[in-house]
Amino acid sequence: MKLIVEKDYEEMSKKAAGILVEEIKNNPSITLGLATGSTPVGMYKEIIKRYKKEELDFSNVKSVNLDEYVGLDGSSPSSYRYFMNENLFDHINIDKANTHVPDGKADDLEVSTKKYDKLIDDIGGVDIQILGIGTNGHIAFNEPAGELSVGTSVVDLTENTISDNARFFDTMDEVPKTAITMGIGSILKAKKIILLASGENKKEIIKRLLESDTVSTELPASFLLLHPDVTVIVDEAAYKG
Ligand code: PGA
Repeated sequence: MKLIVEKDYEEMSKKAAGILVEEIKNNPSITLGLATGSTPVGMYKEIIKRYKKEELDFSNVKSVNLDEYVGLDGSSPSSYRYFMNENLFDHINIDKANTHVPDGKADDLEVSTKKYDKLIDDIGGVDIQILGIGTNGHIAFNEPAGELSVGTSVVDLTENTISDNARFFDTMDEVPKTAITMGIGSILKAKKIILLASGENKKEIIKRLLESDTVSTELPASFLLLHPDVTVIVDEAAYKG
C-alpha cells in the first residue's frame, strides 16, 4: 500500500482529482469506481473545476458506485444516486446511462445484487476505484463481522455506521438500517484503488490499517493489503492528528 500524506482536505482532494484526471485523459473510455460520503466531495468539486478548465471529456466514461441504501431511489435527496447527480454527474458531460448505482428499490434485491456484479464484469471491470473508510474500518458498506460477502450483497448496517450517517438525515428514524454494497471481492477486482481519509476522526482507523500485517473480517479495509495497487491518500489530521 502506497501512502501519500497531504497538508489538508483541499490538498488531499486535489491530489486524488489529479490522479483521476490523468487516468481519464489516458483512457477516455475508463470505468471509474465511485464513492459517496463527505470525503470525496472536495475531489468531485476539483474534477468539475478541471473539467470546465481543461476540456476533459466524459462522454465515453463509465462509472459504477459502491453502494446504495435499501428503500431509497434517485428521487430521494438522501440516496446515493441523488448524491452522485448533485456532486458530479450533473456538472460534467457524462452520459447518465453509463453511470451505475445499485438499485435500492429493486423488487428482488438478491437478484439485483447478482445483476450488479454481472454488469461490472460485462463493462470490463473497474479501472480505478475510489474508496472512503468508515471509523469502524468498513469499506463501502462492508461492516466488521465474522464473515464478509465476496460479491455485491444486502447488508445490515452497524449502530456505529447508522450513527455516523445520521448527520445526513433529519431524524434517527429516517436513517436506513440496510444497504446494498459491492462486496470485498468486487472491490478487489478493480485494477487500481485509491482510499481517501480526512480529519482527526479517521486517525485511529488509518493507524490501525497502516499497521496491519494480517487481514481480518473485523477490519474490512485490511483486505486491501491483498491488492497490488492501492494508494492511501490522507490529510495530516487523519495521519498525525
Ligand atoms: P465519510 O464516509 O466519507 O462520510 O467519512 C466514509 C465511509 O463511511 O466509507
